[in-house]
Amino acid sequence: MTDFSDQPVAILMSGGDAPGMNAFLRAFVRLGLNRHGVPVLGVRDGYRGLVRASRGLESGAEELVNLKQEILRIPGQQGLINGRQHLILMDHASVSGIMGKGGTILGSARCLEFHEPGVRAKAVEMLKQLGVRAIVVVGGDGSLTGANRLAEESGLQVIGVPATIDNDLQFTEMALGVDTAVHTLVWAVDHFIDTARSHRRVMVLETMGRASGDLARMGALASGAEMVITPEPGPLTDEKMEELAARIEGGMTRGRAHAIVLVAEGVNFDPPQARNRAYVLMDAFQKYFQRPGSPFSDLEVRPSVLGHLQRGGHATPQDCILAARFAERAWKEIMNPEGANGITAVRQAQVELVPFGSPPMPERTAFTAEMDALNRDLSHW
Ligand code: F6P
Repeated sequence: MTDFSDQPVAILMSGGDAPGMNAFLRAFVRLGLNRHGVPVLGVRDGYRGLVRASRGLESGAEELVNLKQEILRIPGQQGLINGRQHLILMDHASVSGIMGKGGTILGSARCLEFHEPGVRAKAVEMLKQLGVRAIVVVGGDGSLTGANRLAEESGLQVIGVPATIDNDLQFTEMALGVDTAVHTLVWAVDHFIDTARSHRRVMVLETMGRASGDLARMGALASGAEMVITPEPGPLTDEKMEELAARIEGGMTRGRAHAIVLVAEGVNFDPPQARNRAYVLMDAFQKYFQRPGSPFSDLEVRPSVLGHLQRGGHATPQDCILAARFAERAWKEIMNPEGANGITAVRQAQVELVPFGSPPMPERTAFTAEMDALNRDLSHW
């Protein structure tokens, strides 16, 4: 690109990073350059990069000229290295060797300022002045809500791409990052089993997932965890925690030597608790096992909060393949003169574009129920 007449497509990653974001960027840039002859403008640090770049234009027309010159003068890897640059013209080399690499080379952020209409308007104005033909937003729930607002207000074409380890986007069968995060959970559970078995202990592991229990459910099903506790059935009372402890004890009575319990971070307590779920459950279980006359009074419980470990790591082949398919679907819509706004989604194993604000798929609700039933019946001892 030597000037802005090629009308680049802007791309940003927003919210919590997810494995597969880099694979998507690579596929999107390569398809743009190799198949469509359209350049891609990477936005650093999500919406925050847009806001910062547009703020730089407040002092007048000369700044726009300077911004364009900087983008053309420092493309690709040099632009990525130049920490002050918010908009980077991506080339082949800048996306080389990043396929499965965890995180995102463009950076991601949660940007509260972007909720302000005036701030968004300035960012849109800048994109228009740069001749941007469409913007692609890769991220989870909040990021795609921001993308929808952008689509409604800006007149720019906006394509969303679901990427979140939480698996809480109910309009698609799969989001980028879920498969990798489940693999990571299985890896983590395997490690905890080693030590739980050696000490004949109960390990309570807290997973991410925001308000959804799906990541924990999938992790439990794939790892063989003995119990999974999710937010959907409602807050945990003391009685409920005793029931859960009694179930573990029942398994021990029938010969089980250890137990892995996954608890999703979205689980709440009644009365509410300020501490991490894994610690609250540890205390409740330990208290139950140490009650007077307990047959398992020396059974020990240990907690662990897996945290951001679940967001990192090399993306699985499945996530990398999905990333390429999402990229292809996004380009198809962008290159269509009648192209719509929307979000790439997997439906019945096909990649489609669905409108922003699409309702939950009934299949997702059914899948959640299926996983609950399987977890219950497979873990019983
Ligand atoms: O949405 C992804 C996620 O990892 C959630 O599972 C978690 O609740 C949240 O992001 C953590 O956010 P942060 O990285 O801002 O601490």
